[in-house]
Amino acid sequence: MGTARKRSASRRNKHGESVKILLSGARIQKKIRELANEIRRDFPGEPLHLVGVLKGAVFFLSDLSRQIPGEVSFDFIAVSSYGKETESSGQVKLTRDLDANIEGKTVIVVEDILDTGLTLQYLLRVFEQRKPKRLRVAVLLDKEERRIAPVRADYVGFKIPNAFVVGFGLDYAERYRNLPYVGTLSLGAGKKEERAQE
Ligand code: IMP
Ligand code: MG
Repeated sequence: MGTARKRSASRRNKHGESVKILLSGARIQKKIRELANEIRRDFPGEPLHLVGVLKGAVFFLSDLSRQIPGEVSFDFIAVSSYGKETESSGQVKLTRDLDANIEGKTVIVVEDILDTGLTLQYLLRVFEQRKPKRLRVAVLLDKEERRIAPVRADYVGFKIPNAFVVGFGLDYAERYRNLPYVGTLSLGAGKKEERAQE
């Protein structure tokens, strides 16, 4: 462990946690512009309907949608798969459905992070039944090595190593979503810390 890491890990907040920057806000914004252009190139002149998965995808969706030229609409869906802990329960529940029908639309599911893939697998099943014209997936972050379900994203911002990350929409116990960057979370001493680093 280098001295810089030691120093940042020692700056813990009142919860005994600290965050180390992994992706700066500037890097994220640059990547989002690239993804937006790529998406528009793939569907020239076509109305696009973005579906954001609450709450983690709010900032990614809001920035992505503003960088895609042409006609764009969006909607939100909410699922729960994570509680307060850093490990998925493996169970996905729909807690808020879309406002509008997606039949015949070119839909792009916008997710903050692809981890085990269980959430996305569930969502894709739900959406496919509703007969969109096309169904694509954009994720800001991809933790490839954690994958359990056989799903993949069409647009990936960053492939990241297997560590628990927060910021830019991603939370730990509902905190840190508002960070303008993505960072790795280090928990307080004891068992929890080992789990976050797994
Ligand atoms: P999956 O179903 O395991 O792919 O997990 C998807 C959801 O779990 C994401 O939409 C996040 O809400 C949450 N999640 C997965 N990994 C992380 C992480 O490193 N930090 C914060 N939330 C995460
Ligand atoms: Mg999420």
